[in-house]
Amino acid sequence: MDTIAAAQVIRIVQHEHQCLAAVIKGMRHFVRIIAEGGKAPDLKVFRAMILYISEYPEQVHHPKEDKFLFAPLRARSNEVEITLTTLEAQHQTGEQQLRDLSHALLRYEFFGEPAFRKFHDKVEAYADQYFEHMRQEETIVLPFAQKVLTEQDWQRAALEFSANSDPLSDIHSDSLEKLFSLICSITPAPLGLGEPV
Ligand SMILES: [Fe+2]
Ligand SMILES: [Fe+2]
Repeated sequence: MDTIAAAQVIRIVQHEHQCLAAVIKGMRHFVRIIAEGGKAPDLKVFRAMILYISEYPEQVHHPKEDKFLFAPLRARSNEVEITLTTLEAQHQTGEQQLRDLSHALLRYEFFGEPAFRKFHDKVEAYADQYFEHMRQEETIVLPFAQKVLTEQDWQRAALEFSANSDPLSDIHSDSLEKLFSLICSITPAPLGLGEPV
């Protein structure tokens, strides 16, 4: 069903994926630079990226997908059940993966070069899995949702997806946007706005 509410939900999901993809590409870009012998960035950028992912996709984006896209979809059809089960399992393991990533970064900060390879490999694996995850949501889940969800399903999803639910808002307003801007300003062009490397 193509309605205003459906278009709004799809636009929000795609926008959130674009922000997440920019951050993950930035993280992968920096580990590749270091792997090639380039200058390591201020490691604060990795911490900012991990914080962004843990505060936004993990706490806001995934729960909204589970509740307001996957659940109604499952109530209407079991045709994409295998895909939904896989994606939900990835949502559930997301936080643990980020903790692993964070720990690998901490080890790199303290132990230096000998601990870099593990951090590098975790970032590459994380990026591969996440890009595939978003690809399946955009090419399988959303098109199927357009076929089977009702107008009521979409309106409920639109209400929830468009709600302002910045989990850092108790720290200061627009905090996630500021964090995202900080990441973009440190990340070099063409991925971000910082000085080209
Ligand atoms: Fe997801
Ligand atoms: Fe998603």
